[in-house]
Amino acid sequence: MDHTSARIRLAPRLSSVAPSPMLSLIANAAALRAEGRDIISLAAGEPDFDTPDHIQDAACLAIRSGDTHYTAADGTRELKKAVQRKFARENQLNYSLNEITVGSGAKQVIFNALAATVSEGDEVILTAPFYPSYVEMTRMNGGIPVIVPTTMASGFRLNPADLEAAITPRTRWLVLNSPSNPTGTALSERDLEDLAEVLLKHSHILVLADDIYEHLLFTQTPFQTPAKVAPPLKERTLTVNGVSKAYCMTGWRIGYAGGPAKLIEAMGTVQSQVTSCPSSISQAAAIAALDGPQDVLSRLREIFQERRNLVVEKLNAIDGLHCPVPEGAFYVFPSCEALIGRRTPRGEIIQSDTALAKYLLDNADVAVVPGSAFGNENHIRISYATSSEQLELACIRIADAIAALN
Ligand SMILES: Cc1ncc(COP(=O)(O)O)c(C=O)c1O
Repeated sequence: MDHTSARIRLAPRLSSVAPSPMLSLIANAAALRAEGRDIISLAAGEPDFDTPDHIQDAACLAIRSGDTHYTAADGTRELKKAVQRKFARENQLNYSLNEITVGSGAKQVIFNALAATVSEGDEVILTAPFYPSYVEMTRMNGGIPVIVPTTMASGFRLNPADLEAAITPRTRWLVLNSPSNPTGTALSERDLEDLAEVLLKHSHILVLADDIYEHLLFTQTPFQTPAKVAPPLKERTLTVNGVSKAYCMTGWRIGYAGGPAKLIEAMGTVQSQVTSCPSSISQAAAIAALDGPQDVLSRLREIFQERRNLVVEKLNAIDGLHCPVPEGAFYVFPSCEALIGRRTPRGEIIQSDTALAKYLLDNADVAVVPGSAFGNENHIRISYATSSEQLELACIRIADAIAALN
């Protein structure tokens, strides 16, 4: 027995918290690659491009000019001003500087918000399929995730009647994510108006709009966010965004949000005690991203839209997969229900989406994420944030492996 680990007692609140399934999958695929296997990972949640040069230059300049110290806990005044301009320019949302916060990624911003507001037993309404961190962060803060399922038939849209039914006096937050990870569903103005009609009847509920995939939207109609669509909701909405996905800056760790001053101040208090501040260098780079040339956004959007079309077409040609056309983000979330129960060439039965993902990793050398990681069984999530050549090859391998099932 390992006496050291026997002495380490973990906090009970961690007992129901799972590690990020994506990060362990990505690590798994990397380990197999290190062993010499030619694994194509379609599990990544990040653009496969380098950060644009002008953003890198801003960071180098920050380092060389001594911008290397702690900053204000929830972001420099200069970055908050750039965020303020971004919200006004792109979302027609006007925030004062004390209504803006900056954190080490949208993920930390979301955690700060929950840590600042959720008491033991408070409920957080999420729609499934969900970004897994919402569930775990809610639990880490003593809250109870209340998961409202959505269906592929309804385009994974939250039905207002289902929202109404999930609300209780303990509801603290509704979390919305559009375009969504993992489905790519984007909520329209009409969708948000219908949800706002319910929310306006329940003034105790805060709304967290996770808009991190805002710029990866392929619809003709423009991006919409709850605080803009329903102005009376703005005073209780936290509009979360970041530079990770839009500007290929996942490793820089900068996210931000606009929201009511009281909430923003409390989130700053959390952050000041946990991380002191986001990286000064990354903050300087984020200013260059938000204020600099924006042509990177449309270039990325075009590339991702082409890849989406390619992947949807190839997957729908495979007997046993059904892949709806997502409106945004860089994921497809096909149903694999028809494959459950089929038998592998070695005689094993594919019992679940997790078994299918394992089969594809072992037999097609392709890493995908099982839908159950997002609260929806019988689906797999495929990220198309990789080159078209790799995507074509991955789809051929998946098709061959699935054709071998009977
Ligand atoms: C829905 C969603 N929200 C937030 C994040 C975290 O973004 P950041 O890199 O800004 O922490 C991700 C990253 O995968 C995401 O998919």
